[in-house]
Amino acid sequence: MPAAVRRARTQVGIVGAGPAGLLLSHLLARRGIESVVVELHSREYCEARQRAGVLEQGSADLLRAAGLGGRLDAEGLEHGGIYLQFGGERHHLDFRELTGRSVTVYAQTEVVKDLIAARQAAGAALEFEVTGTEVADLETDHPVLRYTAADGVRHEVTCDVIAGCDGFHGICRAAIPAPRAAVSERDYPYAWLGILAGVPPSTDELIYAHHRHGFALHSLRSPAVSRLYLQVPPGTDVAQWPDDRVWAELQTRLGLPGWDLIQGPVLEKSVTPMRSYVSEPMRHGRLFLAGDAAHIVPPTGAKGLNLALADVAVLAEALGALLLEGRPGLADAYSDACLARVWRSTHFSWWMTTMLHPTPGADAMEARLQLAQLRYVTTSRAAATSLAENYTGYPPLLPGPPVG
Ligand code: FAD
Ligand code: DHB
Repeated sequence: MPAAVRRARTQVGIVGAGPAGLLLSHLLARRGIESVVVELHSREYCEARQRAGVLEQGSADLLRAAGLGGRLDAEGLEHGGIYLQFGGERHHLDFRELTGRSVTVYAQTEVVKDLIAARQAAGAALEFEVTGTEVADLETDHPVLRYTAADGVRHEVTCDVIAGCDGFHGICRAAIPAPRAAVSERDYPYAWLGILAGVPPSTDELIYAHHRHGFALHSLRSPAVSRLYLQVPPGTDVAQWPDDRVWAELQTRLGLPGWDLIQGPVLEKSVTPMRSYVSEPMRHGRLFLAGDAAHIVPPTGAKGLNLALADVAVLAEALGALLLEGRPGLADAYSDACLARVWRSTHFSWWMTTMLHPTPGADAMEARLQLAQLRYVTTSRAAATSLAENYTGYPPLLPGPPVG
């Protein structure tokens, strides 16, 4: 006999407790809208997963406005620029001077910890370690979310709306019938090997370095912890990169006469593929996709987390109008509103990536073109301002006058 199914009702069923799903649940609760969040992994896993580090000014402001600015303001590191390094020279781009804006280095792990703490303090329905997540009846006004909770009980939640915030490998995007989704995709012929190191940063601002061996990035986490990345071939096994090899290669690619990298214990090491991917539209019936579930950018422009946060800010506003006031206009405009920003970020991330990563096997022409572009952005105020404007982020998508 099949096990009993526990039935429930909520306004918004949210799949995934990454930054998108958690912030959406938080923003909806602030509008008095109830949600249930279901997550494949454990709370500990979600809080420890090493990923992004840079918040655009608008993302930091959004978190503050949502009452999540406490630790962000105490521990986040405000950065007014970056270094671009190539041909043995390091150039500073001063974002504050060029655009009046800055970014904040505050790890995704910390954003997720803050959001989980806030949701749990509010008594929100947040279920970790679920299995068998399914979404159905998406073309009706009462879509259904099914999952098996950690205790083995099968649940069926009838919702007004389902938000697919389940990342690139989730199930929600796949629930949209194939003919309805247009996919744009590009894989890059390299990956990033990232380390978290228990060493003070060797730099005051992030360093993005073009080197004939490949790209390298020096980022930061705190006065005692650094985050560094190396371009490696796709599919690289971390076992091929013992700590001393990683440090030696970072020193080669980032080093300059008179400047050395502080080396020390490696706390975490992993390899990330590089991909651009956009699936549109970001809505099908009563299913709304947000964040990596709908789009992926290569990490070079530091945009993925910021896009996920921007999507759910727009979605929370749209669902507020739909569910509280019966106005569907913003929900109908959701996909187009988000895709404008998504495509801007997709272009910027592709541009930064192709400027800074030597393509394996490419001829000398490619390197000359990359160096010419890097020279241009570090010598032309107009070109530097364009990079700075994109890196620090785009203006928030204001809700505008009520539609429909
Ligand atoms: P995720 O964080 O992927 O969350 C989705 C959640 O859904 C996961 O917890 C997953 O377990 C859960 N899930 C999946 N399937 C199911 C299911 N069937 N049922 C229930 N739950 C499910 N972005 C930046 O902005 N700046 C950066 O500096 C930056 N650097 C990066 C560096 C690295 C090494 C990597 C890997 C990424 C980086 N990114 C960066 C990208 C950023 O981390 C992602 O864009 C961001 O995590 C997207 O958030 P999300 O909530 O949409 O998806
Ligand atoms: C970090 C990651 C990025 O992709 C980037 O462009 C800058 C910083 C980071 O993890 O700190």
